[in-house]
Amino acid sequence: MRKNIVAGNWKMNKNVIEAQQLMFQLLEYKKNNATNCDVWIAPPSLYLMMARDLYENNEIGVFAQDMSGQESGAYTGELSAAMLESIEATGTLVGHSERRQYHGETDEACNKKVKMALDLGLIPIYCNGETLDQRKSGQHLDVVKNQTEEALFTLSADEIKKVVIAYEPVWAIGTGETASPEQAQEIHAHIRSLIAAKYGQEVADEISILYGGSVKPDNAKEIFSQPDIDGGLIGGAALKMDDFAKIIEGFN
Ligand code: G3P
Repeated sequence: MRKNIVAGNWKMNKNVIEAQQLMFQLLEYKKNNATNCDVWIAPPSLYLMMARDLYENNEIGVFAQDMSGQESGAYTGELSAAMLESIEATGTLVGHSERRQYHGETDEACNKKVKMALDLGLIPIYCNGETLDQRKSGQHLDVVKNQTEEALFTLSADEIKKVVIAYEPVWAIGTGETASPEQAQEIHAHIRSLIAAKYGQEVADEISILYGGSVKPDNAKEIFSQPDIDGGLIGGAALKMDDFAKIIEGFN
């Protein structure tokens, strides 16, 4: 079901005390402020159960930053869908650009992970986006088209409606070079039109598509006001409660 979402990707940040502090701050904020969006976090996997226990009433969604494409076994350091389901995680990121860049994640692997997550009732946040070179050479529409089709178009209509998509232009991640609202809207509309062509407009209109890449308190409102942008996947600004709160208030 399409909804407004602000999700914080903490990446590899925070020791356990800092993580607990921020989780408590978030809970207090959520309890004391009416928000016009769902609030999700993707903390380091070490802290997933702490978050799950703290948010026992599901005030805030709890996501892994990645998940194995294997069911179980000799895969050192990986987390399975069954493990995430067993701790009642809300879902997982799939295909973040840093997993693609540093760990060779492919669209094919993402397709397998998205399906495994859905099969166990986990919400996949499927990340895609072009590099600076691809944008400069005018390939960005084709790149995002391929990433979307390869990873998602084996799903049924009922399955794809449960997927959240995050468009994160690689050149905007961690750089302070935010895509303009118009640049982001163009790709979001492009993704939605691809889904509409394959599954029909009704299905396409059910899917939340988030923007990620240097979303900050001073640009969130304008980005979120675009017709095909349903929220944000936030990196650096999610690590500071005041900034994250101002981004959430971008929907007010
Ligand atoms: O997954 C979200 C992240 O890649 C965006 O990072 O620091 O540009 O908000 P940042």
